[in-house]
Amino acid sequence: MIDVTNSVRLAQGFMAYKMSSKSSAGHGIHSPLIYSFAREVVHKKERDSYINEIEWYRDWQLQSPLIIKKSRHGAGSKLPYNEMPIGKLIRSSSVSPKHGGFLYRLAKWLNAKYILELGTSVGISTMYLSGAQPHAKIVSLEGDCQRALLAKHSFDYMQCDNIEVIEGDFDVTLPTGLDRLPTLDMVFFDGNHSAEPTLRYFKQCLGHIHNNTAFVFDDIRWSNEMYRAWQVIAQHSSVTVSIDLFSLGVVLFRKDIPKQHFVINF
Ligand SMILES: C[S@@+](CC[C@H](N)C(=O)[O-])C[C@H]1O[C@@H](n2cnc3c(N)ncnc32)[C@H](O)[C@@H]1O
Repeated sequence: MIDVTNSVRLAQGFMAYKMSSKSSAGHGIHSPLIYSFAREVVHKKERDSYINEIEWYRDWQLQSPLIIKKSRHGAGSKLPYNEMPIGKLIRSSSVSPKHGGFLYRLAKWLNAKYILELGTSVGISTMYLSGAQPHAKIVSLEGDCQRALLAKHSFDYMQCDNIEVIEGDFDVTLPTGLDRLPTLDMVFFDGNHSAEPTLRYFKQCLGHIHNNTAFVFDDIRWSNEMYRAWQVIAQHSSVTVSIDLFSLGVVLFRKDIPKQHFVINF
């Protein structure tokens, strides 16, 4: 069933986003750092052989008859099923090729060595991160054991040997994940799309950042409460740069630049 209220809210949000966003070429952005981010991370269209391999693997998984149960964790899917073929799960909740490419380029741009992901699911986004930085250490947290198992099989098959998956609820596994990494260069928050836990995980991760860390939040417009959580994060005193990409939100902690908010056309 179509959720009309949510669709209207998203459409209004999209129009406001488009009207305030900077152009696709990065014109109108005066900060050299954000200009580089816009050109090298947001708008670059190149697709290399590693990305082709992930997308080949995704296409193969989309054909699979394997049935996946609904996860008990997080804010819950908007789909009304208790179980579904893996293809449907990937279509509804894994990063799209566009967003996967974004994560890939961001990890490279940051030269990230230590990456944390909240929400592995079946591992599509994690493979993008792994391929971008094969020598990085990636810790990915997942509460659903069936998804975690499938993700580990995928990582073996795709020879992504720099990923550690930690199973269990983020409330329990986040401290463990943080202990496994000496610092955080990049964090991808992609699970539990509710405001209170998102803000709590954000604050827990703040204790492990440095000047060049980036946090990425998925689905910042998934609900009103997620959007409010994003606004709180963007205004937090430790955040200097916040970048609204409509469904993704990125924050940086650079102390050498004044606090700024950007809306970039993605
Ligand atoms: C949107 S999916 C992640 C998609 C994945 N990052 C990708 O793009 O391929 C979110 C995942 O987070 C997990 N999750 C949500 N809340 C959680 C929690 N509190 N603890 C552990 N896992 C959680 C769900 O089981 C689900 O698999």
